[in-house]
Amino acid sequence: MSHLLEARGLVKTYSSPVETIRAVDGVTLTLSDGEFVCLYGASGSGKSTLLHLLAGLIEPDEGSVLVDGTELRSADVKGAAEARLRRIGVVFQGDNLLAELSAWENVALPLEVSGVKAGEARRDAEETLALVGLAGLADRRPAEMSGGQRQRVGIARALVGGRRVLLADEPTGSLDSTNSRALFELLAQLAEAGRAVLVASHDPNCRNYASRSIEMVDGHFEGAEVGAAGS
Ligand SMILES: Nc1ncnc2c1ncn2[C@@H]1O[C@H](COP(=O)(O)OP(=O)(O)O)[C@@H](O)[C@H]1O
Ligand SMILES: [Mg+2]
Repeated sequence: MSHLLEARGLVKTYSSPVETIRAVDGVTLTLSDGEFVCLYGASGSGKSTLLHLLAGLIEPDEGSVLVDGTELRSADVKGAAEARLRRIGVVFQGDNLLAELSAWENVALPLEVSGVKAGEARRDAEETLALVGLAGLADRRPAEMSGGQRQRVGIARALVGGRRVLLADEPTGSLDSTNSRALFELLAQLAEAGRAVLVASHDPNCRNYASRSIEMVDGHFEGAEVGAAGS
């Protein structure tokens, strides 16, 4: 096992004129290939903020995130951006697919953005769709697919190009329980095949399929010592 993602002493605060909220308050975490970690906890406990920090979408006030050993916020800005784009895929509750594009075209988008040739991008997109159980649906548009299928397209888009870290925020938020279980089962399979999967979810099914579950309370991991994380 290798550590694909590592967070040390993460702190993120939000300030308004009336108060300062420590949305993430001293989180240390390692995520290895083969793992499917379920992050659960009450609304407002900091799950989404943590996911955004791990994905490099927002910057921490304190602490650091390492992807495959490369620090996301390093002097080598280009190297850090590349490490993030090539290795981390993110899925949110809404599928955020483009309605005018077919499934494979949606999945191929991140590849085209990074300059992969069209034919190669299409092949990779179709292979990744097959990986999430959607072989044969590559030409459908989002409106011609079920919610569960659309969410799988989102996962394929997050994984295309060989990205091995998958971060998902409430991925089953708009699915019924049958589709939710099927999605968690898929996430478990993807982890078993050598990826690292972290899911923030209040869906109780998440804990049944995960290899490890962590409860978040007031910005930190329940049971972890706040403030002792930076060493
Ligand atoms: N962009 C933001 N600006 C101000 N406060 C925020 C912002 N994002 C989150 N928060 C606050 O940080 C805390 C954690 O929120 P969040 O990470 O969304 O929790 P969860 O995903 O567990 O529901 C909450 O108190 C929330 O109101
Ligand atoms: Mg959230």
